[in-house]
Amino acid sequence: MILVTGGAGYIGSHAVLELLLAGEEVLVLDNLCHSSRIAIDRVEQLAGRPLQFVKGDVRNRSLLAALFASYPIRAVMHFAGLKAVGESVREPLRYYETNVSGSIALCQAMAEAGVFRLVFSSSATVYGESPMMPITEDRPTGVPTNPYGQSKLMAESVLKGLAESDPRWSIGLLRYFNPIGAHESGLIGEDPNGVPNNLLPYMLQVAVGRRRQLNVYGADYPTPDGTGIRDYIHVVDLVKGHLKALERLEAVRGVSVWNLGTGKGHSVREMITAFEEVTGRPLPHVIKPRRAGDIAQCWSDPGKAWQELGWRAERDLISMLADAWRWQSNNPRGYAEPTPEKKTPTALAS
Ligand code: NAD
Ligand code: UD1
Repeated sequence: MILVTGGAGYIGSHAVLELLLAGEEVLVLDNLCHSSRIAIDRVEQLAGRPLQFVKGDVRNRSLLAALFASYPIRAVMHFAGLKAVGESVREPLRYYETNVSGSIALCQAMAEAGVFRLVFSSSATVYGESPMMPITEDRPTGVPTNPYGQSKLMAESVLKGLAESDPRWSIGLLRYFNPIGAHESGLIGEDPNGVPNNLLPYMLQVAVGRRRQLNVYGADYPTPDGTGIRDYIHVVDLVKGHLKALERLEAVRGVSVWNLGTGKGHSVREMITAFEEVTGRPLPHVIKPRRAGDIAQCWSDPGKAWQELGWRAERDLISMLADAWRWQSNNPRGYAEPTPEKKTPTALAS
């Protein structure tokens, strides 16, 4: 059985589905602070079989000990965490407590239970502003400009120290580039709380009429069209990389770092054009000043994951956007129950 912390969240729910489809038994631990139980129901529906779900906090040591004592857990995928950059600046302690102390509590419980295989959700944010593209895993980590990024770097360093201290550990640090998209069924997807920070969730909410226009943060970057460039990766490709990493960790000890990206960069303007093509309607947008802490460009060299895991991203930008659009137009309010007076997304956006 695989323990998936944060398994009700955006990436975790897609990972749980992929694990179930691969025949694994899954136990999800999630406190639902940023997710819904409905995501779990839909994953079970898509997989055609049940999973074990426990509502609880990854920092709760007695709960963790009880879970490891009660279930035959052989490995852990650790998604539970907080990820809003702006919020992390306002509430740094909450971020360090969840993302760093939560990871420590989990590893202590794992060690006590004799479970030493862990896949950890890290981020390309740990590279900081890299002078050269694409980014390989051996590039030195940078200085993240916000507590969220620092918490990911700190968690990575805790896990590296742990693996150096005890050879029984096999830990995969997966550095995600920019996960977007949704399962092709349109039943599960990203459902951010409040105003989305990230580009695609914001674009989707504009397209369904929940927000007036997209703010393009900066058109004066040293990039071909002046807007920021990122490596967007389909969430289903991303989670398939997790299963490959888990498999690989059966054979290797210590810490392994893998970039999960496509190796291709797209600018904000390219994203808008492709999005308009997919939705068939214009996306209202306006150019604004650069967002504090943003970098001009960031894309991966995914070669190490291909060599060592036999994994690479397969879905192109149009399928990422089409799947995300299907999810958002079928679920304009995410997992919230629709209210009777609410208009349909088509009526709102037209
Ligand atoms: P998400 O917010 O959708 O999912 C996180 C899940 O963790 C949620 O279901 C939430 O309820 C749960 N959770 C939070 N604190 C918890 C706690 N103390 N105990 C138990 N459960 C808790 O986010 P996501 O996009 O699915 O991200 C998953 C992981 O990937 C996070 O660690 C995030 O930092 C990392 N990551 C995400 C991105 C991205 O762009 N989405 C990029 C890089 C890294
Ligand atoms: C952001 C976070 C990063 C985090 C990642 C995944 C910041 C500074 N960085 O990265 O730490 O790991 O999300 O959660 O918040 N953009 C707009 N308008 C918007 C939103 C974004 O123009 O409303 C632009 C940005 O300037 C950027 C691109 O779109 O060029 C992608 O932005 P975003 O989706 O927020 O991802 P990152 O900036 O890569």
